[in-house]
Amino acid sequence: MDRKLKNKIMSLIKSNLPDYFIKHHIKAVVKEALWLCNFYPKADKEVVEISSWLHDITHPLSIKPYEQEDHNIASAKKTQKFLDSIAFDNSKTKKIIHCIKAHRSSRHPEPKTIEAKIVASADNLAHFTKFDFLYKKMNNPQKTFDKIKRDLASTFMLPEALEKARKITFEIEKKYKTKIL
Ligand SMILES: [Fe+2]
Ligand SMILES: [Fe+2]
Repeated sequence: MDRKLKNKIMSLIKSNLPDYFIKHHIKAVVKEALWLCNFYPKADKEVVEISSWLHDITHPLSIKPYEQEDHNIASAKKTQKFLDSIAFDNSKTKKIIHCIKAHRSSRHPEPKTIEAKIVASADNLAHFTKFDFLYKKMNNPQKTFDKIKRDLASTFMLPEALEKARKITFEIEKKYKTKIL
């Protein structure tokens, strides 16, 4: 991604999200999303990367309190404003907005494009790769196990993401001496 654009995105993120959330969630989503792009060479990598960085920009854990609109919708609006302010490519902006709106497995709209499926799968997958963080943050073992069980059942999960998530689930079962699958 263009360096200037990356810097602008990073400063937007840093002024909106706490460091621990960037470290344990946002960066993990970007990492998994870029890894998934290897399997889908036709996916627009720039759209995937920008969407991954900004998908939770108004998350309930953000620094500034936002109106209690669903955070996928609020994050899409904030991203639209940001991309318009830097005169970013219109057709890419539209694709990014869809990725952000569709990133939540439990909320409509469903991810329709390959880029949106990658971002939503990576968002789920980050719950597995950063399970210990999720476990601590949720502070309720059973709810945390139920959550990743739901993630595994998401219909949009790309097969590569699902396979990786399942493998990690076996490790989690061992570590926490529980049965999830
Ligand atoms: Fe989210
Ligand atoms: Fe997320």
